[in-house]
Amino acid sequence: ELGEFAHHMRKEYWEQPASAARALKGRLEERFGTARLDGLNLDARAKRAIRRVKILGCGSSYYVGQMGAQMIEELARIPADAEPASEFRYRNPIIDPETLYVAVSQSGETADTLFAIDEIKRKGGQVVGLVNVVGSSIARACDGGIYLHAGPEVAVASTKALTNMALSFGLLALDLGRIRDLSIADAKRIIDGLQAIPGQIDEILRQEDRIAEVAKPLSASASLFFVGRVRGFPVAREGAQKFKEVSYCHAEAYQSSELKHGPLALISAQLPTVAIVPDDELVQRNVGALHEIAARGGPLVAITHAGVDLSGLTAERIDVPKNEVELDPILLTIPTQLLAYHAALALGHDIDKPRNLAKSVTVE
Ligand code: M6R
Repeated sequence: ELGEFAHHMRKEYWEQPASAARALKGRLEERFGTARLDGLNLDARAKRAIRRVKILGCGSSYYVGQMGAQMIEELARIPADAEPASEFRYRNPIIDPETLYVAVSQSGETADTLFAIDEIKRKGGQVVGLVNVVGSSIARACDGGIYLHAGPEVAVASTKALTNMALSFGLLALDLGRIRDLSIADAKRIIDGLQAIPGQIDEILRQEDRIAEVAKPLSASASLFFVGRVRGFPVAREGAQKFKEVSYCHAEAYQSSELKHGPLALISAQLPTVAIVPDDELVQRNVGALHEIAARGGPLVAITHAGVDLSGLTAERIDVPKNEVELDPILLTIPTQLLAYHAALALGHDIDKPRNLAKSVTVE
């Protein structure tokens, strides 16, 4: 079933142009500039009554949740944040009837996420799920939700399911935004952006040979940083997570804005940094952080856009196609999947079944 692919991880990231298209299929209402998400089981009045959004998931599903919180805040202007479900369930959380709780899970069987849902429901809260596996325990426990339609995911390192989670958050943000203050013009901009994503993922995957070359020297490092800020920070966190999982190199994500408050002390020729540098309103500040790293001899890889000027810096650059600023994180994440895979391949690791990890964590 692997066909031309040596590993499920690579097969699954190559499936993304098709699987991403499935996440959007039948869910965009171009005429009204909104998303159609009947499975949420929320009418306009219930959606309008939402005062906060709290997103819960574990591992990478939590990092995508951070991406989703940002999309909801930007497009719907509802305060939103993400928290690891594994922490939330143990801290006697305050459950608020005006908060929409969103549980995020590929497998739908992650024990920590399931118990967090139980805690919310016991206290009378409302939970919707972003879940891949149809009929799974989490899907059944939620009051409604959005199925990801990513198809079966076998590799422990999640790729296509995460992309569909991020796209589903884009749809949710659009839906919640359009019953508030998101203009139809902005909504159409987002709809066009979402529709462009499957093709743009394909463009990134076609750069695989070059990304593999960039990955090889990274695999030789004992430790590396992934940095980004604001929209780019969840991308950096997910990039570091993927790199750790399959290459076993220590990878730490940091906000580029925080480097000068401590971690710059670690920068040296032995510690490469993968920087997420979107072409947005923070680009000059991001490029400034790269200069700080370069001045201390730190090797740099920039995942960026063609319009970003990195002159005066010695950096490997990986350019991704430009989308709308709110959606760019979805595309900026794709090269991090390829970097992790090719670093692990260079090291000869068991990529689909990394040591100490299980695909679905059904124990506490
Ligand atoms: O099935 P889930 O999405 O609930 O799984 C959550 C995490 O265990 C999962 O995302 C984990 O971090 C992956 N191995 C990431 O690649």
